[in-house]
Amino acid sequence: MILEEPLLSAYGRASSQPSPVNRMMAQFAADFRDGVDINLGVGYVNENTIPRDGIRQALDEVLSSPQKYRFALNYGGPTGSANLIESIRRFYLEHRIGGLTEQVLSGRQIIIGANGASSLLEAVAQVLAPGLVVTADPLYYIYCDFLERMGFELLAVPQDQQGLDIRRLEAILDRLGDRQAQIRFFYLVTVNNPTGTILSNRRRQEVVEIAHRLSRRWGRKVPVIFDLAYELLIHDPVQEPPLSGLLFDELGLVYEMGTLSKILAPALRIGYLIGPDGPMLQAIVQKTSDAGFSAPLVLQEMASVLLDRCAAEQIERVRAGYHQKAQKTGAWIQQRLGPYLEYTTGGQAGFYFYLTFRQIETHEGSAFFRFLARTTGQPQIDGPPEAKKPRVVYIPGQFCVHRHGELVEQARRQLRLSYGFEELERIDQAVRLMAEAAEYAETDQP
Ligand SMILES: Cc1ncc(COP(=O)(O)O)c(C=O)c1O
Repeated sequence: MILEEPLLSAYGRASSQPSPVNRMMAQFAADFRDGVDINLGVGYVNENTIPRDGIRQALDEVLSSPQKYRFALNYGGPTGSANLIESIRRFYLEHRIGGLTEQVLSGRQIIIGANGASSLLEAVAQVLAPGLVVTADPLYYIYCDFLERMGFELLAVPQDQQGLDIRRLEAILDRLGDRQAQIRFFYLVTVNNPTGTILSNRRRQEVVEIAHRLSRRWGRKVPVIFDLAYELLIHDPVQEPPLSGLLFDELGLVYEMGTLSKILAPALRIGYLIGPDGPMLQAIVQKTSDAGFSAPLVLQEMASVLLDRCAAEQIERVRAGYHQKAQKTGAWIQQRLGPYLEYTTGGQAGFYFYLTFRQIETHEGSAFFRFLARTTGQPQIDGPPEAKKPRVVYIPGQFCVHRHGELVEQARRQLRLSYGFEELERIDQAVRLMAEAAEYAETDQP
């Protein structure tokens, strides 16, 4: 007897096939050769930035101080470890992160997610009713893909050098008319992934003002979620210090989401949300409990120790490391790919560059992509099947923009390149290979 598959929810049905980018990355990972192939695709941090000794010492300290770090190996509570919450608060105030003051923070709650900022983002999508989400295009494809599978519709507003373009947003809002009432939240990544564009302070304020206006007009709060994943990694010294969106918030609309993944270690899985108490925040806490009670308490306590002990020097060290990598990578890109490029963004914060070629296409079917994946079918390019030449993986722009947005055509000539994970020597080699791929795409193709 042939049985049908279990009846899936709408989300289950939408999730039963991997997203195109996951499929591409899985394909590449399946036969990735360490030391041969070069991975500029993943958002992994650089291994050298992870404070291994500090982490070992933090574990020792937590386990040897049971009075302070109580029941660290047991279940934790869904709002998060009190020690960690206090450490985050202190860290923000001591270092004036985002210009936040005691007064602003005292009216806000800090909660810890079950599994990094990703789990808090997931929680937001679980607890808010489906509707429209305003975000910047190119977009954080991982979360935006999830939002769509959860039944949200994206309003992806193209960005300029300062982030989401406010004039275009206003025009979109005008066109929406009464559908404005269906806007459920704004989702803005302050250092955009994939483009690396830093959302200017002026834009942060303008977005919050627009959310205030919409909330007043429709009589319902429209939250603004600022995703600060790379905010502490702004390493270009000429950038203005970023301001927290909380400073502009009069109505209790702003939530800021942070993570320790990029400054300490992704494996700690510590993400936090700072925002006003209320039904939305309480529902997110319940969601954390439902997802697994809490982030592992021992990891939260270790993160607390690390924040108290060495976060400031650690961040300086990590910033300096990525700054140096950005300078070198940026120079190689200009030298070797410059003539092919229309423009480049990124390199001032976090660890991405986003390239727009004049003519060369970068999508999965393009000659450029196939050259770097060694799937041209030409042995002199690909090498013999059992010993293919080094491959380079990047994220094609086609995956980084809204499928039905204005940027679809342009994205065929774009790519995101990460200088986080690989060491400089490999990045150097990868950019050389990209230049060869560009030449191949321009000259050898019909
Ligand atoms: C924009 C953005 N938000 C959130 C995350 C996830 O952070 P976490 O490791 O805390 O889940 C990432 C990770 O790359 C990211 O790029």
